[in-house]
Amino acid sequence: MKLEIDQQLLTAEIDALAAISDAEPPAVTRIVFTPTDLKARAWVISRCKEAGLAVRQDATGNIFARWNGADPTAPAVGTGSHIDAIPNAGKYDGVVGVLGGLEAIRALQRSGFRPKNSIELLVFATEEPTRFGIGCLGSRLLSGTLSAEGAARLKDHDGESVDEVRRKAGFNGNLQDVKLPKGYYKGFVELHIEQGPLLERAKTSLGIVKSIAAPASLRISIEGVGGHAGGVLMPDRKDALCAAAELILAVENAARSSGAADTVATVGVCDVFPGAVNSIPSQVRITLDIRDTDRARRDGVMQTIERASQTVAAKRQVSMQPEFLNADAPADCAPEVREALASSCRERGLPFLEMVSRAYHDSLFISRIAPTGMLFIPCRNGYSHRPDEYAAPEDIARGALVLAESLAKLSG
Ligand code: GLV
Ligand code: MN
Ligand code: MN
Repeated sequence: MKLEIDQQLLTAEIDALAAISDAEPPAVTRIVFTPTDLKARAWVISRCKEAGLAVRQDATGNIFARWNGADPTAPAVGTGSHIDAIPNAGKYDGVVGVLGGLEAIRALQRSGFRPKNSIELLVFATEEPTRFGIGCLGSRLLSGTLSAEGAARLKDHDGESVDEVRRKAGFNGNLQDVKLPKGYYKGFVELHIEQGPLLERAKTSLGIVKSIAAPASLRISIEGVGGHAGGVLMPDRKDALCAAAELILAVENAARSSGAADTVATVGVCDVFPGAVNSIPSQVRITLDIRDTDRARRDGVMQTIERASQTVAAKRQVSMQPEFLNADAPADCAPEVREALASSCRERGLPFLEMVSRAYHDSLFISRIAPTGMLFIPCRNGYSHRPDEYAAPEDIARGALVLAESLAKLSG
């Protein structure tokens, strides 16, 4: 089997998809179910159809593009990632796994390989938490980690529910039907940029993921007392933003003092009301992201943060209402998928690192229902979730090649 990745085509497709964005280049913003996201989805679907794949979409907007195998009733071998992008993102996060996965399938087709198990490209809907506050909505539903009722209740910033938003985007099916039947996938592999600096530092162009760290997120609503920025004297204040500031530092401290470098915590959202320069903030809502490779340690940090919120609330005479959005378990990648990836690398003389994924991915949830693995490629300086995110075309093509080889092994 002579497998060749069309690096030029793949690079051109990544650039073409990046141009479908709500941000000025090089930034990419593609929030799920916006007109821009729908345009990008249609573009990806047309590329899949051009490759002869049979396309279907489920009620939550996951896209399945299937190359039928010799035994179409046998469990499929899956690959894929996401194309939604957080505000002011780069063009590689998720996209490398979608377009790299598509090119891996086309390379297999060109080589004359005929799969026994069907090979399916899966473009997950709503991987990023930007719109509904929780990441991996599509894969949570596919894996049954989140119930249809739970998903339908989630709301975006404008108070529109998942159900309303998806129906407006043309997805009218039943959310109950999104969950995949047992044994749907024989194996699943996601190609992704590392989103960290370790491959680059090790001068190694491939990483095989052993496990995916456990993410959690939490929203805290702080209610103080507003008033005139000139009229209310300092001893009389119950400033919600000052309380939030103290809590944010406590969050940082809780992660720093967990005793492990693997613990990370971030406050990436802070909404201030009323948001006027001459008005004391009366309400603040912050959203926290806490992760660790060790679930118990991550949960311990969350408890520390909760205690800190009570202390700060009492000291500053404000109220703090925590709302837990998600607290997921970590996942181990499947030995058989790791082995398919490792032997594909070895056969081509390509060195690889075995590593932990500190970012979360849809693979975290697909691993609950199918043997799952991930292949990482380097990104410059480890940058991701920023416009200067960059992966070299040769690294992307190498990743797609190893992916193709591994899909062939799993579906042979
Ligand atoms: C995924 O985008 C993550 O935040 O890890
Ligand atoms: Mn991301
Ligand atoms: Mn991603």
